[in-house]
Amino acid sequence: MKIYCEKDYEAMSRRVAGILAAQVTLKPDCVLGLATGSSPAGAYKELVRRYQEGELDFSGVTSVNLDEYKGLSGENDQSYRYFMDSNLFDHVNIDKSRTFVPDGLEPDSEKACADYNAIIRREGPVDLQLLGLGNNGHIGFNEPSAVFEKETHCVDLTASTIEANKRFFEKEEDVPRQAYTMGIGNIMQAKKILLIVSGEGKADIVARAFCGSVTPEVPASILQFHDDVTLVGDEAALSKLMAEMEK
Ligand code: F6R
Repeated sequence: MKIYCEKDYEAMSRRVAGILAAQVTLKPDCVLGLATGSSPAGAYKELVRRYQEGELDFSGVTSVNLDEYKGLSGENDQSYRYFMDSNLFDHVNIDKSRTFVPDGLEPDSEKACADYNAIIRREGPVDLQLLGLGNNGHIGFNEPSAVFEKETHCVDLTASTIEANKRFFEKEEDVPRQAYTMGIGNIMQAKKILLIVSGEGKADIVARAFCGSVTPEVPASILQFHDDVTLVGDEAALSKLMAEMEK
């Protein structure tokens, strides 16, 4: 695993944007696996800046996002489709019809998941999969559980995830209770993984994910078995991992 320990969130975001930009430049028709949330927001802003300065061309890029809340439409400003449009897609020359997010408005979970798996199979393999890390070790919305789910599935969000995500909603009751997410198998099939973490609140779970045992109770721990993982974090988020590694 390659680790970049950056001074702060801004430096981390520049590093992540640089890795994504290199991918797009070296393979203009690449498939990017993308994530939402506060961790990648700064990197998307930096990519938009580079695009506006003429450094990047997204016209050949395809993207597949990790997840979407069940029940939210793309017009809902809390949906992950809305997040992607407003943070990245609306500001670069990506072909929107080549950007994929699970269909939050499909009420039939089996159909929504089967459709998304078919898209991933058709468009894949993902060249570079960007991931954030949940406080409980989730990646995508693969919550701690007894097994690693392989493919796209519908999950019941845990109390800790609802708690962490309520900051984006007016009130806690508004946070959807279910989501569609790529499975761990889908994620592990990406050629390269780019995991980003920021803030002291992530320090414990980063150390557990990479120095603890591989278990579905800490979904991100599976990344120990992927042979091309890059971890980019700020000093606060990586502090405990670095201390463990020095032991
Ligand atoms: C978002 C996603 C989630 C987040 C994770 C961390 O698409 O898949 O796994 O990456 O919850 O969120 P932030 O970055 O907001 O701390």
